Amino acid sequence: KRLKIGTYIPPKENKQSKELAVEIKKEKKKVEFVKNGKPVNATSLDADEKKEIVPEGKSGGKGKNNFEKLMKEIPPIIEIPRDDWPSFYIEEIDRVINRSYEIEKLSDERQANLDEVQTKLRQAIQMKVPQGFRLDAFGSSVNGFGSIRSDFDVCFRYIDNEEKDKVTTKRMIKSISRALHRAGFGNVMPIANAKVPIVKFSMKTNSGEEIEGDISYYNDRALHNTRLLSRYCSWTKDNLLSKLGMFIKKWAKQCEIGDASMGSLSSYAYIILLIHFLQQLQPAPLLPVLQEMGDKEEIMKDGWDVYFCDEEPTPNWSSCNLSVGELFIQFLDYYAKYDWQNEVVQIRQMGPLTKADKKWTSKKMCIEDPFVLDHNLGGRVGNQMFVTILKSFVITREIFFTLSERDLFLENFGGDKDYVIAEENNVGYGIALLSRCRSTLGVVPRVPIRQRNINPRPSRNSVPAQNTGVEHQKTASRKTDAITGGGGGGKSGGVNNKGGRGGGPPNERKQEQITGVEHQ
Ligand code: CTP
Ligand code: MG
Repeated sequence: KRLKIGTYIPPKENKQSKELAVEIKKEKKKVEFVKNGKPVNATSLDADEKKEIVPEGKSGGKGKNNFEKLMKEIPPIIEIPRDDWPSFYIEEIDRVINRSYEIEKLSDERQANLDEVQTKLRQAIQMKVPQGFRLDAFGSSVNGFGSIRSDFDVCFRYIDNEEKDKVTTKRMIKSISRALHRAGFGNVMPIANAKVPIVKFSMKTNSGEEIEGDISYYNDRALHNTRLLSRYCSWTKDNLLSKLGMFIKKWAKQCEIGDASMGSLSSYAYIILLIHFLQQLQPAPLLPVLQEMGDKEEIMKDGWDVYFCDEEPTPNWSSCNLSVGELFIQFLDYYAKYDWQNEVVQIRQMGPLTKADKKWTSKKMCIEDPFVLDHNLGGRVGNQMFVTILKSFVITREIFFTLSERDLFLENFGGDKDYVIAEENNVGYGIALLSRCRSTLGVVPRVPIRQRNINPRPSRNSVPAQNTGVEHQKTASRKTDAITGGGGGGKSGGVNNKGGRGGGPPNERKQEQITGVEHQ
């Protein structure tokens, strides 16, 4: 039976939260061994396995030892029963992800601003480059995963490709950069020596919005994978893939594991992780493998086959009807338990691919580009970052599986776990969830925290109904309104009055002022 938001659910036998937390603590204490670099629970091993594995703190070679030490930072993965979850829990997560998508998706206004930037770029470059050229947008502004925060990625190519050989890349990058300077673009920075040379820029549009972006010089590879991602988006209903992808990108940024220039993974790599997961989903995959579908023919570009089935999706192709929240939770579970030691994440074939197959055994994290098969999108992830990424999956999984943030969120608002988090608190709850991941990981904010009023007006849902004796109505927002005057922000998204991060033990958390602030 579908539950109405704000409906009281009579308490049932539920060992969620506190009891479960005690059990988890006990489980963690039992960890005595390290297997394949991961701490494992000794009670779960048989005698032979115990001989083979290394007792904690007594492992082999120097580098390995160091890595194993790092790996001990990752909490063990604990099987957490879902039977005790309130029946409406997943619906709450669905609402958080859906709402986040509605707020952050590329709006028509933002799209108009991007078009304006593209026109101005073209006009500016025309002044310096008399040969015919084209500028094509790629990346998240066109691949289905764009948000209001995304940058604007544009690719420069000559109409007549032979022009490319007449002038050096370095010179061309210099010309484009001068052209942008002259036309009044801000923060113009040429990067000519990169694998794909670019010119970075920013521009204030007529509406006053500041847009950052970069022009890549001949980035055909990105143009192809942009089309592929966009086609994958069309295979799910109700923008499901876009919603999930955007939420995962946001989560990764919050945990500071979503920036390739900082040694972690690019947004693009996370989308590949997501597509792979949805292709491998059991019992019913949500996505097909487009590179194995249709009338396969080789389309060679720069030595790589860029074929994929670009036809309209087959209606009702998948029988998977899992919701966006359920899929997010399963995504966390999948990658927390993923065999990173042996497997390569890829989206071009249904069958598995191993590091040994690719001769990538020296790399910790292997994510194959769908077209440029010798490109490992995780190739730059070092030991420390590998551990941080894995930790993020394990910890976030635990937060979502134990419902630990949910309990604290409700407790803070004077509700208990049997209440449904009200619609109007979706934004606050979403912020609280992601902030909880961030603070549990120990991420120190690197940018100032901005104060923001999330729910300026209390809605009808937030008014507690009279107890009729039949149905007791109450919502999680009640106390928020009392405290903030309607600004129902997430608790862990808030900061304490010492200026620290959201989070910390429950007692400390009680002292925090609920302000509805958001980490930027
Ligand atoms: N790209 C790629 N290989 C990479 C990184 C990026 O081919 N290792 C391409 C992809 O087409 C990607 C695009 O460059 O979509 C832009 O990259 P980026 O700006 O990092 O990601 P977006 O997908 O645009 O996401 P966002 O800007 O929203 O973070
Ligand atoms: Mg981008």
